[in-house]
Amino acid sequence: MPDNDSLKKIFLAELNIAASVAELQQLRVKYLGKKGALTAQLKSLSTLPAEERRSFGKTVNDLKEFIETEISARASVLGNADLRKRLASEAIDVTLPGKYTPCGSEHPINKVLKEITDVFITMGFGVEEGPQVELDYYNFEALNMPKNHPARDMQDTFYITDDVMLRTHTSPVQIRVMEQKKPPLRFIAPGKVYRCDADVSHTPMFHQVEGLMVDTDISFSDLKGVLETFIHRIFGPDTPVRFRPSFFPFTEPSAEVDIGCVFCKRRGCPVCKSTGWLEILGAGMVNPHVFEMVGYDPEAYTGFAFGMGVERITMLKYSIDDIRLFYENDIRFLRQF
Ligand code: DAH
Repeated sequence: MPDNDSLKKIFLAELNIAASVAELQQLRVKYLGKKGALTAQLKSLSTLPAEERRSFGKTVNDLKEFIETEISARASVLGNADLRKRLASEAIDVTLPGKYTPCGSEHPINKVLKEITDVFITMGFGVEEGPQVELDYYNFEALNMPKNHPARDMQDTFYITDDVMLRTHTSPVQIRVMEQKKPPLRFIAPGKVYRCDADVSHTPMFHQVEGLMVDTDISFSDLKGVLETFIHRIFGPDTPVRFRPSFFPFTEPSAEVDIGCVFCKRRGCPVCKSTGWLEILGAGMVNPHVFEMVGYDPEAYTGFAFGMGVERITMLKYSIDDIRLFYENDIRFLRQF
């Protein structure tokens, strides 16, 4: 068995080369563990003559204490070094510039559609939807446009079969809702519509907002009040509004509604063709024949309807002169809204 002095020397040599906290732990077990070198020394105590035991025991205990202190001191040094190494390797440079994630914005058509919808919601209108692939019956027939009616030619229809088409307007939603619900009714129906047409003011797909109000005593002045309120909210309270007689098969009487030209303030310009007025929507009192088609008694009920193009309103609101800009997805255009 090595004596205490050599044990101490060997220990110090081993301590010197221990390179990690884990290796120190192994050293501790080797010297101080149950089967460790010092434990063996202590056990040998009983084999010594009684007069030597005391001093031998003290030497072993001193050595034990020495080893413990040395290992702890070394452990804290190596522990700090380990920590510094980890911190260095896992360091994050919070001053580096971040990765640029481009952020989208709302499409101008959706933005204006939302504004229009909000205005009508504040006037107590609900919001209804209908299918974009529509039956002839709802798109034309029930709106008082029977087969071969000349008014059908006003809209260049994308047919799927003789009887099925992409809806050319949102007016069919009027019929679908009236078939399902009894008056009083007050709703708008926003959505996509399709016509085979393309130039600076037409795209094959565009958006409309239909409106319908039906009750026992709805009059033309209700229509005027609602539409004037709407126009003043969207274009500003000083915008002049004009109702001009017109024709739609599903309303009688019918009107087209104009606003004072937003470009020249009614002085006359190329956009308003020197008239000072711009047409923004169609409207009228629901044709009694339409009520008959949905099973409403035309003697009991009256109502008004209107329909507007969202692209057109957006173009006037933001002075955009080409409708195709909305669908070319040019980021520089879209960013402006
Ligand atoms: N549906 C018509 C169109 O697309 C717009 C319209 C006009 C709707 C008059 C109406 C209305 O409800 O009363 O041209």
